[in-house]
Amino acid sequence: MSGFDLTVRGGTIVTASGETAGDVGVKDGVITQIAEGLEPGAEDIDAAGKLVLPGGIDGHCHIEQLSSFGLMNSDDFFTASVAAAHGGTTTVVPFAAQHRGQSISDVVKAYRALAEEKAAIDYHFHIIVTDPTEDVLTKELPPLLEDGFRTLKLFLTYDLMKVDDYQTLQVMEVARKHGALIVTHAENNEMIRWATEKLVKNGHTEPKFHAVSHPRLAEAEAVHRAIILARFIDVPIMIFHVTTREAMDEVRRAQEAGLKVYAETCTQYLVLTSDDLDRPGGEGAKFCCSPPLRDDTDVEAMWQGLADGTFVTLSSDHAPYAYDETGKLNAGDNPTFKQIPNGLPGLELRMPVLFSEGVKTGRINLPKFVELTSTGIARLYGLYPQKGEIAVGSDADIAVWDPDAEKTISDDMVHDNTGYSPFTGHTITGWPECVISRGRIIVRDGKTDMAPGSGKIAKRELSDQAKPLGRIEPEMDETKNFGIRLLD
Ligand code: URP
Ligand code: ZN
Ligand code: ZN
Repeated sequence: MSGFDLTVRGGTIVTASGETAGDVGVKDGVITQIAEGLEPGAEDIDAAGKLVLPGGIDGHCHIEQLSSFGLMNSDDFFTASVAAAHGGTTTVVPFAAQHRGQSISDVVKAYRALAEEKAAIDYHFHIIVTDPTEDVLTKELPPLLEDGFRTLKLFLTYDLMKVDDYQTLQVMEVARKHGALIVTHAENNEMIRWATEKLVKNGHTEPKFHAVSHPRLAEAEAVHRAIILARFIDVPIMIFHVTTREAMDEVRRAQEAGLKVYAETCTQYLVLTSDDLDRPGGEGAKFCCSPPLRDDTDVEAMWQGLADGTFVTLSSDHAPYAYDETGKLNAGDNPTFKQIPNGLPGLELRMPVLFSEGVKTGRINLPKFVELTSTGIARLYGLYPQKGEIAVGSDADIAVWDPDAEKTISDDMVHDNTGYSPFTGHTITGWPECVISRGRIIVRDGKTDMAPGSGKIAKRELSDQAKPLGRIEPEMDETKNFGIRLLD
């Protein structure tokens, strides 16, 4: 007997830095040995012909979150865990979302309680700050940030969620002091408001006008502003769901200037376009998300950004609303684009779509796939090396991937609770045949063995990427006797 609880033998181990043949031995939920020729453990998985990947980490997904309009996501922590696991994802970073007037400590407690009761994979949270009162800034956030909540999310749009530039600076200052990272939804609210009013006034209310109401320049402007504000305070920033060439150029320019500016794009922006919003019978509502789907040239640009390192991760931005009166059709069967809640389901298909459309087509290689779906996000959010790696000492979160399995997506084959998939009709090559969370086999051959509450909150460390640069803007340095250090 080898003494391992579990072995995964005979596969090709893929990490963000390369591919090797080898067996993985697991004891007490942790990888304890990697070598060729390991003796089988109590449970043994034959991975011959398969890829052995670190379990995926989805760094941007909305689970059991109440929207500012009072609508609940269609997934709870259990259904979201099941969907994620079916697609190879073993850790999620959803949100604890403050609404105005709420205590952030209470909000975090409430979301933690939901996850403790129902999550069946591991998790942590970004904290959404919509109401940065003095108490929130000075009393509530500091202990949470010291306790491992290392990301603060700011919306620059959505009337009931957005913070203004002054509030943004206030929250950035708190983040900087505690080594937290700012993550942001960056679109210019007033440009969207102006375009929306014009469209509605002129009777242009079908779902396809959702894309027109969110001008591409509204994204570029807000991304630019968010980066400038972060540079001013010297705090690292992650730009969520980049969708346009112009916004990506803003990110690139900042990165080339040596700033700690990170970005992601999401699965839907790689394969869908604004044409999908014009599907007949109001079905375009299923494709309303913000920022909206763009055009073919943006799709190509997003692929370029993944391949060349502009994006550190690919997220799902899973924000599921059923296509019924509880969600997309809450305002009736024929809603205006303004009445359709924003968001698409995508937790399960994030890794399969990227594998099929990215690795299989040669747009990215296997190590890049691992970096984008797991390792890169673990490093950025301080989960590494417990998560995001196949190495001795890391949690045994593993996806055993069949690179040749073929599936055609349909609404009823996905496992979330939304009732439809925006990727229905797409044929995917490559799928995880076995998924392991801390040494437990949670999915095998399409069947799950998952218990609500078996997921755990992951540990998060201060990440190097989230540390301030320590670079003071010339006009702010001490020689002018007015340095940001003096403000600390
Ligand atoms: O449309 C989207 N993305 N909905 C979810 C909330 C957000 O903006 O990320
Ligand atoms: Zn967003
Ligand atoms: Zn989102």
